[in-house]
Amino acid sequence: MPFKIICVAGARPNFMKIAPLIRELNQDPFFKIVLVHTGQHYDDKMSGQFFRELEIPDPDYNLQVGSGTHAQQTAAIMQRFEPVVLDGKPDAVLVAGDVNSTLACALVAKKLGVAVVHVEAGLRSFDRSMPEEINRLVTDSVSDLFLVTEESGRRNLLAEGVSADRIHLVGNLMIDTLRRNLERARQSAIISQLGLVGAFGLVTLHRPANVDDPGQFAAMFSALMEIAGEMPLCFPVHPRTRQALERCGLEIPATIRLLEPLGYLDFLCLMSHSAIVLTDSGGIQEETTALGIPCITLRENTERPATVEQGTNILAGTSREGILSAWKKVKNRKGERAIPPYWDGSAAQRCHDVLRLFAAELSPTVQAKEDNQNRG
Ligand code: UD1
Repeated sequence: MPFKIICVAGARPNFMKIAPLIRELNQDPFFKIVLVHTGQHYDDKMSGQFFRELEIPDPDYNLQVGSGTHAQQTAAIMQRFEPVVLDGKPDAVLVAGDVNSTLACALVAKKLGVAVVHVEAGLRSFDRSMPEEINRLVTDSVSDLFLVTEESGRRNLLAEGVSADRIHLVGNLMIDTLRRNLERARQSAIISQLGLVGAFGLVTLHRPANVDDPGQFAAMFSALMEIAGEMPLCFPVHPRTRQALERCGLEIPATIRLLEPLGYLDFLCLMSHSAIVLTDSGGIQEETTALGIPCITLRENTERPATVEQGTNILAGTSREGILSAWKKVKNRKGERAIPPYWDGSAAQRCHDVLRLFAAELSPTVQAKEDNQNRG
């Protein structure tokens, strides 16, 4: 019997993380991978398109939970995920990142006595007003194996009392996906389709703290408008942000190009050609560091300090003044920035190795059987 892992994916940033891992594990008959899509993100532009472009197999289950308040969404995922675990009897459940699907499925698995593997464990913004920080803390508190993207993850987990032998610095699966797809992305026609000539910046904004409060959103937007006076900005708009824009009734200058959410390849193409990225996303801080593109993060803190200490990221905060001062800093910044260790395109292989050892430890009978087969 292979070692059965249910891999959970729910929202857009999960898809880039599970794609290389599923590809890697599916090549090894030792593992049986069952893919569960919670349906937290469901629009084709937020989900289906990513499955196609990243060649992720069709999910074995789609829980179709859709949107709702945090409690509604988390509860719906838990209710619908529980029978999948009960029926499937996996040896482990693997969750990624910090979205509601991550937390909900980790809790269900643990309460059913199934081992939980957390990809991107240990990241901490130390800001408990962020829903993602709660998701990270709770998920890590019930996880059994911690796959870590950067050194801070290990440090944080050790400080929280996690035993060192459970923590593995494997690198960044999202960067595996980036490296695999960069050449393909560069062939996208998006730049000519948008008629972009010369230097441009790329903006993404979707954090509730930034977009749901009209005053906060307007202050940030006024900084963006000032930057756009010097350099045109492209702004693919997340559904949450689209609602905020409609609520605020802001007048958008022609120098800020509002776009529908983009697929992975078009977005990567724009990002890799942009002079600067302004974002409140977590993953984009990492992708810009891997690409060597300057990034201004429109947040007060980051759970990914390696992108600031080693990479191209500057934390601007969310005030108009903070954003404009970071913009000035970026324009004058000189010198090479580094890419954190193991963000090299081989994180999936490292995860694979760690999971093999973990599986052997968890179910020695699986390992013994396999050894016998190999001997035979
Ligand atoms: C979620 C994650 C966030 C991640 C982000 C990436 C949580 C707590 N948050 O935030 O960490 O950075 O995904 O996008 O899990 N909507 C659509 N179509 C969709 C999905 C959502 O129109 O396919 C709209 C709905 O109106 C929904 C809103 O977007 O209410 C927000 O979606 P939700 O999944 O609640 O959170 P995100 O802001 O996307």
